[in-house]
Order: sequence, then C-alpha cells, then structure tokens
Amino acid sequence: MALVSTNSLTSLLFITSSLLLLLGSFHGTKAQSTPPIVNGLSWTFYDSSCPKLESIVRKRLQKVFKDDVGQAAGLLRLHFHDCFVQGCDGSVLLDGSAGKPSEQQAIPNLTLRLESFKIINDLRSRVQKECGTVVSCSDITALAARDAVYLTGGPEYDVPLGRRDGLNFATANATIANLIPPFANASTILTSLATKNFDATDAVALSGAHTIGRGHCTSFTARLYPNQDTTMDKTFANNLKGVCPTKDSNNTTIMDIRSPNKFDNKYYVDLMNRQGLFTSDQDLYTDGRTRGIVTSFAVNQSLFFEKFVDAMIKMGQLNVLTGTRGEIRANCSVRNSDNSFLSTGVEMGQIGLAQS
Ligand code: HEM
Repeated sequence: MALVSTNSLTSLLFITSSLLLLLGSFHGTKAQSTPPIVNGLSWTFYDSSCPKLESIVRKRLQKVFKDDVGQAAGLLRLHFHDCFVQGCDGSVLLDGSAGKPSEQQAIPNLTLRLESFKIINDLRSRVQKECGTVVSCSDITALAARDAVYLTGGPEYDVPLGRRDGLNFATANATIANLIPPFANASTILTSLATKNFDATDAVALSGAHTIGRGHCTSFTARLYPNQDTTMDKTFANNLKGVCPTKDSNNTTIMDIRSPNKFDNKYYVDLMNRQGLFTSDQDLYTDGRTRGIVTSFAVNQSLFFEKFVDAMIKMGQLNVLTGTRGEIRANCSVRNSDNSFLSTGVEMGQIGLAQS
C-alpha cells in the first residue's frame, strides 16, 4: 500500500480548503454575474445581525402582492425614484412639512403609490421586531424592489446590502432634474442616464421595468390630443382615448398590454408593435441607437433578465451612504433627529450604532 507523504497531505488540504473558499465566494445558487460592488456594501451584511431579514421581507410581500399585485410595481418604482435622486439613501421616504416640501411633493413623485410608503414602514417594523434597529430603510426598499421583480415572474437576484439612510431629502428642483419625464425621447434618456454611468443597454433594460404597473392619463395624453402621435398604433391609440376621454382625465391604464402584471419581456414586444405607453418607451424603438437592443430583448427574455439584473444592481449602488455616514432610521418617514419618540431617549442608544 502506498503511503501518503506529509507533503502530498498538505497539498491535498490546501487544494480542498481553496476549493471551499472558492465555493463560499458564490452567494446563493442563482445564475448571476456580479457587477462591481462599492466599498461598504456586501452580500453578507446582515448575515449575523439580522439573518432572517430577507425571509421576513419576502414572506410579507408574498401576502401583499397576493392581495394586490399592483403594489409590486409601486415598490419597484419607489426604489428607482430613491436611487436616481441623491442616491439610494431612503430620502424619497422622508415626509416633508408645510414649510419644507419633501421629494414626495415634487411632480414625478406625486404618482408614487401611497401604499408603497406604508408597506416599507410595515416591513421596517417587522424587521425591527426581529433584529432591533439595524437594517436601513434604503436596504429594505432595495430588497422590496428585488422581491417585486421576482414575485411577479422576473429574475431572482442577490442585492448587496449595507446602505445607510440619508439625513436630508432633495429639493423639488433636484428631484425633477434627476427623474426623466415620460415625454422624453431616447436622446434625452441616453444623455441623462450617461451622467449616472449607464449605457444604452442599461437604459433599455431599466425601462423594461414598465412590463408591470400603470400610468396615469396625464403621463401620455399629450400623445393623443390634440394630435395623435404617428408612432403609436391606431387601435392602441383609440383604446387609450376610451380610457382617457380628455387630456386631464384622472384615470389610469396598464403599461404592458400583453401581460400587465407579469415581469417578462413583453414590454419590448409592445414597443415593436408601436404599443408603448409613453414617448420615453416608444422612442427606444424609433431611435436607431436603441432599436436593436429592444429587438434583442423582445426575442430573448433571458438576455433581458441578465441585463436587467446588472442594471438594477448598478442602480441600487448609486451614491450610497455606507460605514458611519447617514443613519439607520427608526421610522422610514422621519429622520431620527426629528423623531419625537426617539427624542425621549428610549431607543437613542441603539440607533445607527449597530452597524457602525
Ligand atoms: C427611462 C426613464 C423612465 C421614465 C421616463 C419613466 C416614467 C414613468 C412614468 C411617467 C410612470 C407612470 C406614472 C403615472 O402616471 O402613474 C412610470 C411608472 C413606472 N415606472 Fe417608470 N420611468 C422610467 C424608468 C423607470 C425605471 C428605471 C424603473 C425601475 C427600474 C421604472 C419603474 C416603473 C414602474 C414599475 C412603474 C409603474 C408604477 C405603478 O404601477 O405604480 N421606471 N414610469
């Protein structure tokens, strides 16, 4: 019988432990390429401080979406509006006051769903009950957006965590300047997204979020009245006129006529059939720089999912606060220094210290 030398035993141990290390660096079992992660965020941030975080959020949202699937769209959009204005710092969640209007009062945010804010606060208190004040509202918003995608049929992906909550909200002007209006064309979208380091593929992939959810008439009636947009399918336009009999009608309609509540690639099929709801959607198919990308997603859902996940992970890391910057808000709607419950000193000791 051949004897194993100490040297080969050492090599074997080395190879085994290297293999284990390598395997350990793959998080979860999902097919996910990993775009670069900014300093301070990590895939395992709450693994010891709040191991049940992701299951608490997912379980609750499963119930919420079962009762009303539209809430998934609301939460996905909320994360986008958080990240594009001043970074993913939960600033969109902050309530304003009469003298100091918050981001919520700026025009693009007036159509966010009020329920979305309630859902985030409810998740926040469920997580708080389990783990204390350790998880930020901005992280909860990022997880809720991820679950909105997954639970409506979209890709499963991991979210790097460790964001902290901002201490201030942006002005109305800054909010408007960072959120693209629905009448924007592809040029405006490409230029605006390039300032945040997104390329044309990211821009088309992110717009694919419009595969779920709704739009108010006022977001698209300029395409119907006084003249009908020539890039819009005629039957589609006539149906929209039925939903929105006047330019200022208060009604809403679905954004993806093929599968309004399912996260899939049908949005791109809509665009190819000139059935995109907003100019900002349809022009992605009209413009030669993005048309090919739209087609590639329309014919290949896996490609769309892959590019969407990449772009979402990128978006979710825009100007994040990490380390000791910002705070861990106890109530997502108010910063801790304005929180009258906290100012009694009851919980102050905990806030913001748990992860710093
Ligand atoms: C390219 C620029 C974009 C423009 C111009 C845009 C514009 C809009 C507008 C006007 C609405 C409808 C608001 C209303 O009338 O109720 C809307 C809804 C929505 N947007 Fe976007 N959006 C853009 C990008 C994104 C991105 C990047 C995401 C997420 C990753 C997103 C997710 C959504 C969702 C899910 C809804 C439906 C919300 C609901 O049903 O409550 N949008 N968007």
